[in-house]
Amino acid sequence: MERKEIRIGLIGLGLMGKEFASSIARWCHLLDNGPVPVLAGICSKTKSSWGWYIQNFPGLTVKTNDYKTLLESNQIDAVYCAVPHNLHEQIYIDIIRSGKHLLGEKPFGIDKTANENILKTIKAHPEVIVRCSSEFPYFPACQKLIKWLEAGRYGQLIEVRAGFHHSSDMDLSKPINWKRTVEINGEYGCMGDLGMHVLHVPFRMGWKPLSVFADLQKIAETRPDGKGNIVPCRTWDNAVLTCKSTDPKTGKDFSMVVETKRMAPGATNNWFIEVYGTKGSAKFSTHNPKAFDYLVTDGKEQGWTRIDVGSQSAIQSITGGIFEFGFSDAFQQMIGAFIQELTGNGASHPFRNVTPEETRWSHELFTAAIESHKTGRKIELL
Ligand SMILES: NC(=O)c1ccc[n+]([C@@H]2O[C@H](COP(=O)([O-])OP(=O)(O)OC[C@H]3O[C@@H](n4cnc5c(N)ncnc54)[C@H](O)[C@@H]3O)[C@@H](O)[C@H]2O)c1
Repeated sequence: MERKEIRIGLIGLGLMGKEFASSIARWCHLLDNGPVPVLAGICSKTKSSWGWYIQNFPGLTVKTNDYKTLLESNQIDAVYCAVPHNLHEQIYIDIIRSGKHLLGEKPFGIDKTANENILKTIKAHPEVIVRCSSEFPYFPACQKLIKWLEAGRYGQLIEVRAGFHHSSDMDLSKPINWKRTVEINGEYGCMGDLGMHVLHVPFRMGWKPLSVFADLQKIAETRPDGKGNIVPCRTWDNAVLTCKSTDPKTGKDFSMVVETKRMAPGATNNWFIEVYGTKGSAKFSTHNPKAFDYLVTDGKEQGWTRIDVGSQSAIQSITGGIFEFGFSDAFQQMIGAFIQELTGNGASHPFRNVTPEETRWSHELFTAAIESHKTGRKIELL
């Protein structure tokens, strides 16, 4: 039987646009009989970024440098939009108004006001499915951790530590780019870039921060501009947010430490979550992507157990169960969860994409974190 196609338009053809296009180009990788996403349209302001797409996707029906042309096309069903943060608000709103489904990128609006305006538009268009990208929870070992959390095997929570550490900014000769420019990337800095990734699992567990005390650091005060000058670098490099939250499973409070760091020596792209409870504890980190670590607290001595999880992903794939799983696989699994939601099959997926409401929680947290750092006070979140 011929499978239905979902025609995707890409807005933003940079790093993430390519990752998305490549993921859907190898949809045969998934053992899934549902609809197949196909790349039907591309849009970028700069025509020079079209080349790779035209070469690899001869079936493109829309190629444009004006995203409104893509939105007017009846050849596009859904859009993946990966553009700089200052453009999220207007472009996401226009996509939703056009009636096309949207997988957007974090932080889902450059600031809280932009996020609120996007969410207002979503409310006015319930026919459109809108989700935010976040791929790391789709690592099979993390999926195992999520099932363990859902089963409440930790007892009463003591502490959750979740973070995302990068190290490429340790190179102080790295030229500044839009991701290090407040006007384009936003005042959140490293929190806007890395924070939604970190919060996806905690928020899905209902661990909404009730208060935050934030320590934000600007470490690299200047950077080369790539044109022979040294210019100020004003974004936050590192953030440590100490939050109080309540676990809906037990009604008890616990500490949650959220770390987003661009300057973490030795950490290439290390996303992690650690959960410590009275009955059990568990950890996952992309540094050891196969490993699901857990321990059972039973008596005085407690030892960690490590399970090497293969490539047994939520949506099954052709890869042998003992083989390794990577970033591109997680990204494809995330898109798979989105496609299942578009086709009314989302309920069968164990872990859905970030919802607009969860992006709202992240904006509330980052905005409060900035206030906390400015005032030196703990901020209550209502
Ligand atoms: N999910 C992830 O793991 C992940 C990783 C990196 C970045 N991101 C997010 O993805 C988004 C884009 O980041 P990136 O790394 O791909 O950036 P990038 O700079 O590599 O690409 C941005 C693209 O947007 C295009 N663009 C700019 N203005 C445009 C306009 N008006 N219309 C159409 N296209 C326009 C640029 O030409 C470029 O192709 C950001 O929101 C970022 O936070 C997500």
